[in-house]
Amino acid sequence: MVGVTGGIAAYKTVHLVRMLIKEGHDVTVVPTADALRFVGVPTWESISRNPVTTSVHEDVAQVRHVALGQRAELVIVAPATANTIAKMAAGLADDLLGTTLLATTAPVVIAPAMHTEMWRHPATQANVAALRDRGVTIAGPADGELTGGDSGPGRMLEPEDIIAQAFTAIGRSGDRAGDLAGLRVAVSAGGTREPIDPVRFLGNRSSGRQGVALALAAADRGAEVALVAAHVETRVLEDAVRHPLVRIEHAGTAAELGEAMRRESAEADVVVMAAAVADYRPAQVAEAKLTKEAGPLTRIELVENDDIVAGLAAARRPGQTIVAFAAETPADEDDLLDRTRRKRERKGVDLLVVNEVGWELGFESADNTAQVIGGRGDVLARASGSKRAVADAVWDAVIAARG
Ligand code: CTP
Repeated sequence: MVGVTGGIAAYKTVHLVRMLIKEGHDVTVVPTADALRFVGVPTWESISRNPVTTSVHEDVAQVRHVALGQRAELVIVAPATANTIAKMAAGLADDLLGTTLLATTAPVVIAPAMHTEMWRHPATQANVAALRDRGVTIAGPADGELTGGDSGPGRMLEPEDIIAQAFTAIGRSGDRAGDLAGLRVAVSAGGTREPIDPVRFLGNRSSGRQGVALALAAADRGAEVALVAAHVETRVLEDAVRHPLVRIEHAGTAAELGEAMRRESAEADVVVMAAAVADYRPAQVAEAKLTKEAGPLTRIELVENDDIVAGLAAARRPGQTIVAFAAETPADEDDLLDRTRRKRERKGVDLLVVNEVGWELGFESADNTAQVIGGRGDVLARASGSKRAVADAVWDAVIAARG
């Protein structure tokens, strides 16, 4: 059953329902009256191929709200507004969705969507905590651009990510459930920072989202994950911090990241270097802050950092799989593949995940487009969509490559 409440993200839920139907599920949509102001009954009925009503007074003979709740194997509420979350926390049942939610014993997954301020409000946070304590899965919200033009946590997760979390909640991730169980993986994420002086550094635009998505996807699929995080914003790490199968280690510079990854890869079956590692660092780090008074600073001498992933690949144990990432700004598709193949060989890794980046492409966004290049230079997978979808495609390729 999919509950829909009154938020603009309801339009994305149309896609979510369509995906569930395509996968062969029988979906009943229960919108609140407010939700129908965003997407109407005819859309829900034609997408779900089931009748839709918001009223507890229809089908009274069958006690519809109880029947819907009892029949459901899974309940997803997307989007879940702050108001609905509050009603759920209080156990209010003043409409069909409210009564169904009280009547169901199925796993419940909610995908919050609201403005950042509303999400961060102590009332909402307390309600979310109460629901989580009762076993409700809170999928998201994602961090990103919101309807009012502002940005922050509050955006509804992408449909495929909600579905992934929903299947995990009912103990099966589609065909991928537990397919990484028994594997130990080490994933690096985020951008390294190379200090110039105590207050300045050389850094890069990596947000860490793709690396964190890789760690979470692996953990959801049963792997034991060591996540070595270079600079990653705290809110990007939130889900990983809570995941029982993810252990997080922090690293600042390329040298620290290298040390942590060498330690972790000694135990790991799969190593994924998704971190954006600085290729160079300042030759000298000033002990005190550099000032204009002490003289203009127009040059910084750099020295090369070790290539961490090449080192890990060279020291690879039998049966260990090493995955590197490449961010490229290619002239065209052929150029992209050429560069990638050369890079894979140079680094000696098993798989290279390449994604195109640019001023507007790849970095802080929730979405990504990537290709996975295998040992013979062949394209093993192409993925496009949320960083979680790309992460799942990378793990599929890892499984295929490991035979
Ligand atoms: N990487 C690494 N150690 C470094 C630099 C990069 O392990 N010192 C890893 C990254 O984590 C990533 C891959 O290498 O997995 C790709 O790095 P990239 O910087 O794109 O490749 P380079 O070999 O530095 O080539 P380029 O000249 O294109 O920057």
